[in-house]
Amino acid sequence: MQIARTLDDLRQVLAAYRKPAFVPTMGNLHDGHLALVRQAKPLGDVTVASIFVNRLQFLPHEDFDTYPRTWESDCAKLQASGCDVLFAPTEKELYPEPQVYKVHPPADLADILEGHFRPGFFVGVSTVVMKLFACVQPRVAVFGKKDYQQLMIIRRMVRQFALPIEVVAGETRRAEDGLALSSRNGYLSESERREAVQLSLALKRMAAAVQEGRRDFEAIESDAMAALAQRGWKPDYLTVRRRGDLQGAAEGDPLVVLGAAKLGATRLIDNLEF
Ligand code: PAF
Repeated sequence: MQIARTLDDLRQVLAAYRKPAFVPTMGNLHDGHLALVRQAKPLGDVTVASIFVNRLQFLPHEDFDTYPRTWESDCAKLQASGCDVLFAPTEKELYPEPQVYKVHPPADLADILEGHFRPGFFVGVSTVVMKLFACVQPRVAVFGKKDYQQLMIIRRMVRQFALPIEVVAGETRRAEDGLALSSRNGYLSESERREAVQLSLALKRMAAAVQEGRRDFEAIESDAMAALAQRGWKPDYLTVRRRGDLQGAAEGDPLVVLGAAKLGATRLIDNLEF
């Protein structure tokens, strides 16, 4: 695996290829990321991953400084998963001057759910993804469904800017008990880790209620939030939405249930299409 720390190096390495397949990450890699790399592998003529902890997508009180940086093990895992090129720019390399040109995704998609609780988050995500796309110039980019809203926003960004990139979705990988794999799971204490699966169980129960014919979405949502709160969680939202645009659910739409809740100091998100 070749490692490019600068844009010049990256362009030199990629000059020989026509169809890069790209997996952007912030490092601290787990099996979910590696599955995306393996999924990307047959989709291009070179598999590129990036590791860049993007300051722009963290709020001032969030965990930018303490976000786990696990360089050695990330490199070993990427190599073992068949990644050909790792782009790992420094902040100075990717943002040599303050990034004043930014991508502002539309409020109807970006200021709801995660964007409501983390204002500016999707401006930071969209801006860095646009910039990483400009650096890597992929033909294919793979994003996990675990960050469902992010996937929708990137898809629409690619469509709106007519970027010549196919966005491919990777399924969420789960631990044996059903907890969605996430870099932030590492923050959980032992007892929190045992409790953490309750978020995905709550989403399953919500989906089951709708599948059984209930259409009182607000009651389903508030009951699920109350049940988690009773167990000591601080839920931000648990909600049933249309898959395509994440607006309110209606009869006949393909649906997704999404949730975000804090367990102790750790905020977890998950979702389930049904
Ligand atoms: O999903 C992530 O890890 C990040 O949001 C991404 C897409 C790498 C942008 O920083």
